[in-house]
Amino acid sequence: MSGSANTAGLAGIVAGETALSTVGKAGHGLTYRGYSIDDLAEHAGFEEVAWLLLRGELPTVAQLAAYRESLQSQRGLPSALCDILERLPATAHPMDVLRTGCSALGCLEPEGDSRPGIEIADRLLAAFPSMLGYWHQFHAKGTRIVVQTDDDSIAGHFLHLLHGRPASETHRRAMDVSLILYAEHEFNASTFAARVAASTLSDFYSAITAAVGTLRGPLHGGANEAAYELIDRFDSPDAAEAGILELLAVKAKIMGFGHRVYRECDPRSAIIQQWAKRLADETGDTRLYAVSERIDAVMSREKKLFPNLDFYSASAYHFLGIPTRYFTPLFVFARTAGWAAHVLEQRANNRLIRPTADYVGPETRAFVPLASR
Ligand code: COA
Repeated sequence: MSGSANTAGLAGIVAGETALSTVGKAGHGLTYRGYSIDDLAEHAGFEEVAWLLLRGELPTVAQLAAYRESLQSQRGLPSALCDILERLPATAHPMDVLRTGCSALGCLEPEGDSRPGIEIADRLLAAFPSMLGYWHQFHAKGTRIVVQTDDDSIAGHFLHLLHGRPASETHRRAMDVSLILYAEHEFNASTFAARVAASTLSDFYSAITAAVGTLRGPLHGGANEAAYELIDRFDSPDAAEAGILELLAVKAKIMGFGHRVYRECDPRSAIIQQWAKRLADETGDTRLYAVSERIDAVMSREKKLFPNLDFYSASAYHFLGIPTRYFTPLFVFARTAGWAAHVLEQRANNRLIRPTADYVGPETRAFVPLASR
């Protein structure tokens, strides 16, 4: 490839093969291992989707029950990891907490013959919500919680850890659907980072740690936090319209809109929008959802840009009582399934990922000794 504007950021470059998902076929579709995202969000649960991504087929009833039980049994954290979480400041960004927690677990429970990658994938799916829940409760309330609940879903488990009480069925399912929507997305930046790390034959935790660090940025996972901050600025739809027009006039990027691959729409957006609306009605909200819809309409009218998954996720998460800075960590809980499946896929047919660059620096020149400069 060349470094021309067209291919900057590897846009449009096919960088490998995957059997995990298709993104934006015919401008809009999304499938996980051949199943459409609409069917999965309607009929499946997150653990079922994680199994599908990691093991290739939908689980049977017995396999799913055993898998849920297994994940539930792996939620506990080693005391050394709890110590580390306690020492991280309350002001740390929760994404930094998860990145550190993942890396620390790699020291405490390293990959090896007795702990293969697929088991680490499940362990991280089970442990990430516990890490955040433990760190949150320690710093918010000064309590050392037992990171276990009766809820056999990751969605319900995390909501319970966060709020200190079981979640309603509507909240649990809203979160579950959100995790399904965030679980996998082909060669996005964080997944690509994980695959690059895996391609060096590095360990599983290093690949996932690289992915967490990559997801953190506002052009990627961090967009849901940035979208909420934007929506929350406005008191009314009219104020939102005026504010967005002002931002567009100075060529600001509106977080939660646009996509590198989808050209017509993000198929996940309509699904999470329905949930945001349902939660808004249930909560009695008269501002956030209406503001979101107006921003959506203005972006469509002015820029022909559509909301991506992050835009309506922002208000949905808010209605679920999730603090804004935990939005991207929730993305981690979900995308761990996709990242791990990609690491396994990369390893199964590995070649070091190492592209080349067009050189744009100075011509070769004579070295000038320090004393002569
Ligand atoms: N708000 C305003 N304008 C936007 C925009 C947005 N969210 N997204 C794209 N555009 C405009 C760009 O300014 C650019 O206009 P120009 O050609 O006049 O310069 C054009 O659309 C193409 O955008 P570009 O940034 O080159 O697209 P990309 O493929 O490199 O970027 C994103 C894709 C997702 C990074 C980009 O749309 C973005 O920054 N969105 C906001 C962050 C976000 O929601 N990220 C989550 C992605 S799931």
